[in-house]
Amino acid sequence: MRPHLHSSAAERNRQPILHVLQALLPASGSALEIASGTGQHVAHFAAALPGWTWQPSDAQPDAFDTLQAQCTAADVSNVRPPVLLDVLDAHWPSSGATFSAPFDLVYCANLLHIAPWACCAGLMQGTARCLAPQGRLVTYGPYLEDGVPTAPSNRAFDASLRQRNPAWGIRQLHDVAAEAARAGLQLSARHALPSNNLLLLFERARSA
Ligand SMILES: C[S@@+](CC[C@H](N)C(=O)[O-])C[C@H]1O[C@@H](n2cnc3c(N)ncnc32)[C@H](O)[C@@H]1O
Repeated sequence: MRPHLHSSAAERNRQPILHVLQALLPASGSALEIASGTGQHVAHFAAALPGWTWQPSDAQPDAFDTLQAQCTAADVSNVRPPVLLDVLDAHWPSSGATFSAPFDLVYCANLLHIAPWACCAGLMQGTARCLAPQGRLVTYGPYLEDGVPTAPSNRAFDASLRQRNPAWGIRQLHDVAAEAARAGLQLSARHALPSNNLLLLFERARSA
């Protein structure tokens, strides 16, 4: 595997994320992963949640070979081939056949701070289009929160992101929740995870 297609962060955070998913999710279902990257998350989750079928995706196909190698190494058969999916596109996936059924879970880690803000609306609206009525959206990553002092490491990370690309940066949780609400989704739970990251759970708003 090419070294730049391996994420040390994904190696560290996959197990804490899995612990929360295991507590939240029923034994079986279908999941769409947005921004799968190297596939380290989907391979790990598919092995630990064998009753779930996983559909990985990313806007960049560069890492699809790596993702499939991760799944082969994990010896999982419940991961579909990755599809091209840019959250900004009005139809998901971005090319090929549309998804045959709604998903019980949409999972998206570490996208919102490393993409333009418009991707948040894209994520929420696309999720609302392809989520089953009782389905859930899980996002994971760093967020800024009202009334919660920002950790120095997150401040430094935010500055480095904005230096790399002025359109990037750690997002305000209340802005993300407002974007979700515009798509008919409500923030229903917040789990603090290591290294000042949050796992957020969204569900369809009752009136939606
Ligand atoms: C920091 S990586 C996160 C990978 C993985 N989810 C993880 O947590 O290890 C960000 C990923 O977002 C993808 N991405 C960036 N813009 C995107 C977009 N508009 N739609 C979907 N994926 C996008 C990138 O290609 C990249 O794989």
